[in-house]
Amino acid sequence: MTAKKLFVLAACLIGTAAWAGDPAIGEKMATEKDCAGCHQRLIGGDGSKIYTRSERKVKNKGQLAAQVSFCSSQLKTGWFPEDEEHVVAWLNHRYYNFK
Ligand code: HEC
Repeated sequence: MTAKKLFVLAACLIGTAAWAGDPAIGEKMATEKDCAGCHQRLIGGDGSKIYTRSERKVKNKGQLAAQVSFCSSQLKTGWFPEDEEHVVAWLNHRYYNFK
């Protein structure tokens, strides 16, 4: 393998590590805690529009993690930061698509 290929491979691995959470676990967690319930009361529908509306607040991964953490504490989920990673990964995978 050339040095260049190795470099690209390493960059990919680091890129994956930045999203440590598992989207499937995150989806299950968010469903169990009914994250959508409060968002539904706020904006109607199934609540998911809060993630896709044009004036959405979250603009990058850091803000997404901060918002999940904030909403999680509102809901008193008792999640640890490493639990929140799963939910962040799910929201990103499904709605935000940050790199
Ligand atoms: C008590 C009500 C409430 C609950 C429960 C709640 N949220 Fe929220 N959520 C909000 C409010 C309020 C906003 C901000 C809306 C605004 O400022 O426009 C928000 C916004 C968000 C956003 C940002 C949307 C954007 O604009 O890009 C994310 C992500 C989010 N919530 C995730 C979650 C997750 C994950 C859970 C479950 C752990 C959750 N929320 C539970 C009230 C709640």
